[in-house]
Parts: sequence; structure tokens; C-alpha cells
Amino acid sequence: MELNETIKQRRSIRKFTNDPVSEAQIGDLLEAARLAPSGSNLQPWRFVIVRSEEKKKELDPVTPYKFALKAPVLFVCCADLSVLESRPRRVKELRETGAFTDVDMEDPNSGKYKGSVSQSITAKGYLAMNVAIAVEHIVLRAVDLGLATCWLGRIDIEEAKRILELPEHLEIICFLPVGYPAQSPGQRPRLSMEEIVFKTL
Ligand SMILES: Cc1cc2nc3c(=O)[nH]c(=O)nc-3n(C[C@H](O)[C@H](O)[C@H](O)COP(=O)(O)O)c2cc1C
Repeated sequence: MELNETIKQRRSIRKFTNDPVSEAQIGDLLEAARLAPSGSNLQPWRFVIVRSEEKKKELDPVTPYKFALKAPVLFVCCADLSVLESRPRRVKELRETGAFTDVDMEDPNSGKYKGSVSQSITAKGYLAMNVAIAVEHIVLRAVDLGLATCWLGRIDIEEAKRILELPEHLEIICFLPVGYPAQSPGQRPRLSMEEIVFKTL
């Protein structure tokens, strides 16, 4: 599907059919996530794929969104907080692959330029921002495959982590149920162009 068509067709879907999502499709969605960009190429996204009906039942108390647990697959999208330690290695890797070769830039660590996005928000927020990009890759690729998703943020994180036996360094960012849509809603309200462009200079 043409990218713009995919963007236009995407909706948050809150009702799924019982049709199964194949291993190959799940792999395809994960590949879309894997290719997402991230600050310092940290790639903090980690996923728990829940297909087992038993596990979905266990997750029932952690979210008000029962439809999520009726989807054939639930992606639990997480940020690996430990990746910050790998930043020097990731940046070295980037340098070695020539990402900054012949690029018109000054040394970002010279001390001349103060501040950065990663410092202006919390580490967790910064990693969540990166995970969100990978999640949206999944969301759009799903549309491409005829599938549908819905971002879900209302989760009892601590209880979900306990049920899923997640280590402390994995933070849940969202639940993303994936399945075939059983509804076809129209476009949801959006702000106008005038409202989103604060200034043109
Ligand atoms: C970060 C994020 C969190 C969201 N959390 C929820 C949620 O907890 N429950 C829900 O039903 N929808 C949730 N949504 C879906 C939004 O309600 C939806 O994107 C918005 O209403 C626009 O509708 P559309 O996605 O169909 O265009 C979330 C979306 C995002 C991006």
C-alpha cells in the first residue's frame, strides 16, 4: 500500500475478529519495529508477544480495555532502561559505519552547545519517545498487512510486569493489541493546520 494511503487508513481499532495473526505476520511487524530510528541508535524497544489465552486472562485485572485481551495477539511494548549504558558502543558503531563521515557538523561534545533533548526530559521519557517510534512503525505496517491495532496506555504497569515476569529494567510503554478489524470507523477529529503550525518563520 502506498505510505500516504496507509497513514490515512489507520484507525485505533477496538474490536477484532477471531481470525488468527500468523507467526510470519508477527515477524513482519517486529521487523518494522527493528528498523525504526532511535537517538544514538540505542534501539531501546523490547516486546513481549502474548498469544496464549491463559496469559491474556491473567492480564485481565491490569487494563479496563477488555477488547485488547480479545485480540489474537497482544504486543506489550517496553523500553529497556539499561540501554543507556550501551550509548558509547552504539555511537562508536555509528561512527564506524560512516554515519557522520563528511557530515557538516561540529563536535557535539565540545561543550560549545549546551543542552539536548535527552537531558531536557527524564531518561525514561526519552527512551519511551524512542519506543513510540518503533510502535508506530508496527501500527503502520499492520495497516499495510490488513491488520489493525490500538495504542493502550491505561495499564497497571507494576501488576502487568509481575504477571509477565519482566525484569526491573524493562518498563512497559503501552499495550498494542493486533488483529483483523471488526469495525471500520471514520476518521477521528483532528486539529486544523492553523492550529498545529505555531509559527512559520
Ligand atoms: C500514546 C497513546 C496512548 C493511547 N492510549 C489509549 C488508551 O489508553 N485507550 C484507548 O482506547 N485509546 C488510546 N489511544 C488511542 C487514541 O485514543 C487515538 O489514537 C485517538 O483517539 C485518535 O483516534 P485514531 O487513532 O483512530 O485516529 C492512545 C493513543 C496513543 C498514541
